[in-house]
Amino acid sequence: MRFYSTTLIAGLAASSVDARSVNIENFDKRATPTIYLAGDSTTAKTGGLLMGWGEYLPPLLTGITVVNKAIAGRSARSYTNEGRFTKLANLVVAGDIVVIEFGHNDGGSPNSASDNGRSDCPGTGSEVCISGKTGDKVYTFNYYVETAAKAIIAKGASVIFSSQTPNNLWEGGTYGGYGTPVRFVGYAGQAARNLASTGKASFVDHYQAVANMYLKLGNTKTNSLCPSDHTHTSPEGADLVAKAFAQAVKIAMNGTTPLKGFLNAGNPTVF
Ligand SMILES: *[C@@H]1O[C@H](CO)[C@@H](O)[C@H](O)[C@H]1NC(C)=O
Repeated sequence: MRFYSTTLIAGLAASSVDARSVNIENFDKRATPTIYLAGDSTTAKTGGLLMGWGEYLPPLLTGITVVNKAIAGRSARSYTNEGRFTKLANLVVAGDIVVIEFGHNDGGSPNSASDNGRSDCPGTGSEVCISGKTGDKVYTFNYYVETAAKAIIAKGASVIFSSQTPNNLWEGGTYGGYGTPVRFVGYAGQAARNLASTGKASFVDHYQAVANMYLKLGNTKTNSLCPSDHTHTSPEGADLVAKAFAQAVKIAMNGTTPLKGFLNAGNPTVF
């Protein structure tokens, strides 16, 4: 890296009198911070009829670069075991923000002989399960996301724990949203509380924001946004799910997050 910087400085020196004032150490620093998204297919760039909400976040923000690192099919466990959180922690610099949103693929039983490599150990603490398939240790959702967050925070970046999106709450024609959100919603809030003392962890209840939006949109519209199954949205749905996230950040629905200062003033109200 230094080789390239030095070469570049030499090039500048030939053409500009101010070149010697360029600080080589600052050369790799970006002008704007980056927000990385860690998640599953509901956040990821999927394709065809479907799209994840992360692809629609950039137009809602100014002064921050969005990098969507969500991958379809992942859980907090598999994202960890594939080394993706480690790579993220290596990438971030002070001032960056990482959104961690999992849950859709985190259910199920790791003890079963058909363990899919995604199910977390039940609980929110230091519980450990043994995979019925591989014999490997399996940890809780909170262990995975909080371990990742600590590594990210140690780099000077911030973490926003975001709860998973709800499924189509109008499936079957009746709104079923406010019964019991899936358990990973509460777990994500718990993660933020557990790391509150760092001053770099916050929570967005994306589930609640989208549930509120689906209630407002009604049966026909919501069903049209979920064209192929009850989990995944169309591009239009993804756009709205991103807007619900931005609105939850704007109103600090579950506390203030560092993303608030990067929201565009003209973002719409969707719930
Ligand atoms: C987030 O805030 C909303 C609005 O106050 C509330 O309805 C929701 O229960 C909160 N979420 C959690 C997980 O506490």
